[in-house]
Amino acid sequence: MSKTRIAVCPGSFDPVTFGHMDIIRRASRLFDKVIVLVSVNAVKNPSFTTVERVQLINKVVDHLKLENVVVDIWDGLLADYVKQVGACAIIKGLRAVSDFEYEFQMALANKMLYDGAETVFLTTSAENMYLSSSVVKQIASFGGDISHFVPKCILSDITERLVPPKCPKT
Ligand code: PNS
Repeated sequence: MSKTRIAVCPGSFDPVTFGHMDIIRRASRLFDKVIVLVSVNAVKNPSFTTVERVQLINKVVDHLKLENVVVDIWDGLLADYVKQVGACAIIKGLRAVSDFEYEFQMALANKMLYDGAETVFLTTSAENMYLSSSVVKQIASFGGDISHFVPKCILSDITERLVPPKCPKT
């Protein structure tokens, strides 16, 4: 019997966007099981707790009926998690050249830490080239419309947290 091929799709997902979901959905077609791993990025200051981020992703995963996708949390080294669950791949989405240097460095570091999995890069879909959680947060913080960037089923959860209340005119 062939072995279940597990891929881990790590990220901050603060919050999850159409760009992330596109990569997760495409990865779910390539592997038997995809674990979306909400991980800690030491240089980022999150707007949502890890538990909230998991809840948001789960809502979208349920909505899209991605039956081989599960969501987990990890606050250690990614390589340790990948080894622990027996995954054969780390999935990363690549947008522009600007992503490449950082992702290349991460891929090499993770390979040094654990040789049993490969980093697999999926090119972002053209419509998500510019999209990131930071862009979503910046637009929302100025009261802008983020409905083109995040799934409808979590739009109100995100706007409630990120959009500032309107001040009454004096
Ligand atoms: O969405 P992000 O912020 O680009 O995701 C980065 C993340 C969380 C995947 C990365 O920072 C990570 O893997 N963190 C876990 C700690 C780790 O293993 N760091 C890499 C060792 S060099």
